[in-house]
Amino acid sequence: MTSIPTVSFQAVEDLAARFPTGFFWGAATSSYQVEGAVAEDGRGPSIWDDFSATPGRVVDGQSGAQAADHYHRYREDVALMARLGLNAYRFSIAWPRVLPEGRGLVNQAGLDFYDRLVDALLEAGIQPFVTLYHWDLPSALEHEGGWRARSTAYAFADYAEVVARRLGDRVLHWMTLNEPWCSAYLGYGIGVHAPGLRDRQAAVDAAHHLLLAHGLALPRMRAILPAQAQIGTAQVLVKVYGADERPETQRDVALAHAFSNRWFLDPLYRGCYPEGLFAALGLNPPPIEEGDLELIAAPLDFLGVNNYSRMLVRGSPEPPLADQCRTVSPVPNACYTDMAWEIFPQGLRDLLLDVSREYPVQRLYVTENGAAFPDEWDGGETVHDPRRVAYLASYINACAEALEQGAPLCGYFVWSLLDNFEWAEGYRKRFGIVYVDYASQRRVMKESAHWYAALLQSFHARSRCC
Ligand code: FCB
Repeated sequence: MTSIPTVSFQAVEDLAARFPTGFFWGAATSSYQVEGAVAEDGRGPSIWDDFSATPGRVVDGQSGAQAADHYHRYREDVALMARLGLNAYRFSIAWPRVLPEGRGLVNQAGLDFYDRLVDALLEAGIQPFVTLYHWDLPSALEHEGGWRARSTAYAFADYAEVVARRLGDRVLHWMTLNEPWCSAYLGYGIGVHAPGLRDRQAAVDAAHHLLLAHGLALPRMRAILPAQAQIGTAQVLVKVYGADERPETQRDVALAHAFSNRWFLDPLYRGCYPEGLFAALGLNPPPIEEGDLELIAAPLDFLGVNNYSRMLVRGSPEPPLADQCRTVSPVPNACYTDMAWEIFPQGLRDLLLDVSREYPVQRLYVTENGAAFPDEWDGGETVHDPRRVAYLASYINACAEALEQGAPLCGYFVWSLLDNFEWAEGYRKRFGIVYVDYASQRRVMKESAHWYAALLQSFHARSRCC
């Protein structure tokens, strides 16, 4: 299932030449997945510490307690980024490092870590792209209902203000939330992510409170940040295709699209939820209060797109629930990654074009894209990962096509810089372009890292000469 896809390899020079000067080339990580040091310098517990400690939730009972030890090794990791030629790095702030109880007392030692990280990045000429929430909710807030509770949205806005005050003089690119679809649906709806609830109505309510958190935080951040700062969110989005031309397939494509993409994009950009979505889920609308949707739809400077695969839907005879549309899997003759995600680069191109045509997005960044493969290190200087090279080349080519066809794409971030804690999959899925030997914490460049470095070197050489 994981044979090498046939991509027409242009020389990296040709590929690099298709991106404009000023384009951001980065890599992304998130706090719980790489930092480790979960009990250090006053960090409080998060829902992912609790979830990982619950037997049966994460493969082999693993957790992010050590992860890639980035908390201690961030200088080495920034040096690695500089070697790769990155001009941007997307990372997230651990809310429980900053506010161990979720609200109230600010832990300066936690903020100091991000302060040092930001300074190290800037010294290396790398722009920090900060995500405020990448799933590690302080446990204390979950005890009050987590994202099911409206109060968590207000706590988030206070937290956002604390971080913006501390880092806002140096950080110009901000994302409020990472993939709230996953926080809500995977976390509260089907329970495969923290906090592990299986209550679909709770997912709908949580989604609204996540969006509200974003909407409440925006004006608080804008009041502090300089005018040139850009604020957006990172959404997990997927292009949905029909497997045939039947009317029921078209109907189910629309349903799957509403559930997978429009659930969050419509409120953010149109100030309303997709018509009929909650009924199509067989659920009630969330508790929307007056003014919520206006806050949620406040203008954004960019949209972050996280994309890995596509969805191929085959219509069911009877209309399915919106989260239970029939998908074709496996797709005959398709290639898959180690996550069993289909490799379909055109999906990213089509998605970027659709989003930029259907919503008033000012700028787009691909804030996550990459692939897991079962890499093996033989103790040498490089890890051989030709399938990841092929994957990245084909998806970056798709980005170039989207740009050429008019998508306002301003940056691309590979997921991920380092192998890391892949949530419920633990450490067995490796997404890094840099291999991490967890026993020694040694970093080893994979061939994909060398390939990405060559692409960026060629890009920078061109930018310098033009
Ligand atoms: C995304 C998450 C990220 C990582 C990748 C593989 O959904 O945002 O943390 O796990 O998937």
